[in-house]
Amino acid sequence: MNDGNEKWIKTGIALVDEQHREYFRRLNALLDKIEKAELGELDFKKYLDYFRSYAVVHFDTEELLMRISSFPGLEEHVKAHAHFRENIERMSDDLSLSNDIPRIAGELKFFVFGWLEEHINSYDLKMTGFLKEKVEAGNLLPP
Ligand SMILES: [Fe+2]
Ligand SMILES: [Fe+2]
Repeated sequence: MNDGNEKWIKTGIALVDEQHREYFRRLNALLDKIEKAELGELDFKKYLDYFRSYAVVHFDTEELLMRISSFPGLEEHVKAHAHFRENIERMSDDLSLSNDIPRIAGELKFFVFGWLEEHINSYDLKMTGFLKEKVEAGNLLPP
């Protein structure tokens, strides 16, 4: 995960890039714990919440940027964020009900890897491309 992160932190929109950097920092903290199998249930929940709370901040920021710039793909992008939020919440609830940490950790890893790559490549880059055009045309101050 670490090696591949940089390519996703070069959208060219500084605010989004900074947030993606922090997002990956928190995600990697969680994944490192999972890799080392160091997580008890409480720790897992703590690291998952640490990641999830920032994901919420980040999605809210992107949604605001799309609104203020009248991005035409807003609705679709918001739906994709909602899908992510629901899945992470479900896993967090699962964790409260079950002690099967390896299963939930495996599911989380699988979901997060697949989702992130697809999301950034097909949603975030479309949004940042649009924002850059607006900035270059003088219709938006650089976020
Ligand atoms: Fe996004
Ligand atoms: Fe993003």
